[in-house]
Amino acid sequence: MEVMEAAFDPTWGEAWNRRQVSDALIMPTTHAIIIDTAGAIDEAATNETAGFCLSRHTSGEEELLLIGVKPALRGSGLGRKLIERLIRNAQTRDASRIYLEMRANNPAENLYRTIGFQPIGKRPKYYRLSNGERMDAITFGLPI
Ligand SMILES: CC(C)(COP(=O)(O)OP(=O)(O)OC[C@H]1O[C@@H](n2cnc3c(N)ncnc32)[C@H](O)[C@@H]1OP(=O)(O)O)[C@@H](O)C(=O)NCCC(=O)NCCS
Repeated sequence: MEVMEAAFDPTWGEAWNRRQVSDALIMPTTHAIIIDTAGAIDEAATNETAGFCLSRHTSGEEELLLIGVKPALRGSGLGRKLIERLIRNAQTRDASRIYLEMRANNPAENLYRTIGFQPIGKRPKYYRLSNGERMDAITFGLPI
């Protein structure tokens, strides 16, 4: 939750609260990965937590629900490492594709594209921002 609170700009209303996270993690299909400041993952992560991702598995597909890295630790490959681990974990769950949905102006798009995600759909005016504005959602997919 410390990473969640630091990583997501409140303008976009994307952060989940503790209740939303714990409700999601009760479901056996929801998975979390954490990464520490040294890039170690899950059981190996013994330093301060730097980032996390949450995903959901459904019949042959994995959906990346949320990914966040503390602002001061960005740009050093932790986000990419989280997604690479997610890809490996999803393969062990027999997923053949990973999906994610993001608001149209999210700079994380660069990271997704360098990993190989391609835009496959658009939901016009899908997100409602705190100021009442609407923003498109873009769906990206990656065969794995
Ligand atoms: C997306 C996010 C997890 C990436 O984490 P990261 O550790 O910086 O990722 P990496 O270091 O592996 O990759 C960084 C690349 O992502 C892109 N990128 C991601 N977020 C960016 C941002 N806010 N500003 C600029 N570039 C960004 C850049 O292309 C960058 O590449 P570069 O370092 O070569 O310029 C992080 O920016 C973040 O927490 N963002 C806020 C939360 C969010 O919007 N999450 C996605 C929606 S759920």
